[in-house]
Amino acid sequence: MTDERNEAVLRVVPRLRDINANGHIFGGWVLSQMDIAGGIVAHRIAHGAVATVAIEGMKFISPILLGDIVSVYATEERRGRTSVAIRIEVIATRGIAQEQVPVTSGVYTFVALDANHKPRPLPV
Ligand SMILES: CC(C)(COP(=O)(O)OP(=O)(O)OC[C@H]1O[C@@H](n2cnc3c(N)ncnc32)[C@H](O)[C@@H]1OP(=O)(O)O)[C@@H](O)C(=O)NCCC(=O)NCCS
Repeated sequence: MTDERNEAVLRVVPRLRDINANGHIFGGWVLSQMDIAGGIVAHRIAHGAVATVAIEGMKFISPILLGDIVSVYATEERRGRTSVAIRIEVIATRGIAQEQVPVTSGVYTFVALDANHKPRPLPV
């Protein structure tokens, strides 16, 4: 999993409204946080606007519970002409013991966009 020396791009505390009927956080909420974190890193790499073009298949390993602090880590995995793939990992910090619970990880691909919302070469 994540190198502990990396800073989390996001740290978020889920709210009551993010909980499903099982008492777990909605998977869609997690995907959204990952998209935000990946977009921040991709925007930095692209020096401007990006759009999410693809998300590789992912598995949710453990649920996030109310009261967890959710940390999202994002690092560049590979770069193409107009696209950059970002590996994103989600860790839940739980309870007084600050247990670190791996939640999921996945690769999101972002495309740099020009003013017409078309693919634009990444800066060198
Ligand atoms: C992003 C978008 C502009 C790309 O347009 P496109 O015509 O598919 O562009 P291209 O075929 O030239 O592909 C652009 C890059 O994306 C990559 N790409 C396209 N589909 C991909 C996929 N399924 N997985 C990984 N990379 C993909 C291509 O390999 C290319 O990368 P490269 O230049 O580094 O080699 C267009 O698909 C779009 O607007 N999509 C909607 C984006 C969006 O709104 N996202 C938010 C979710 S609603």
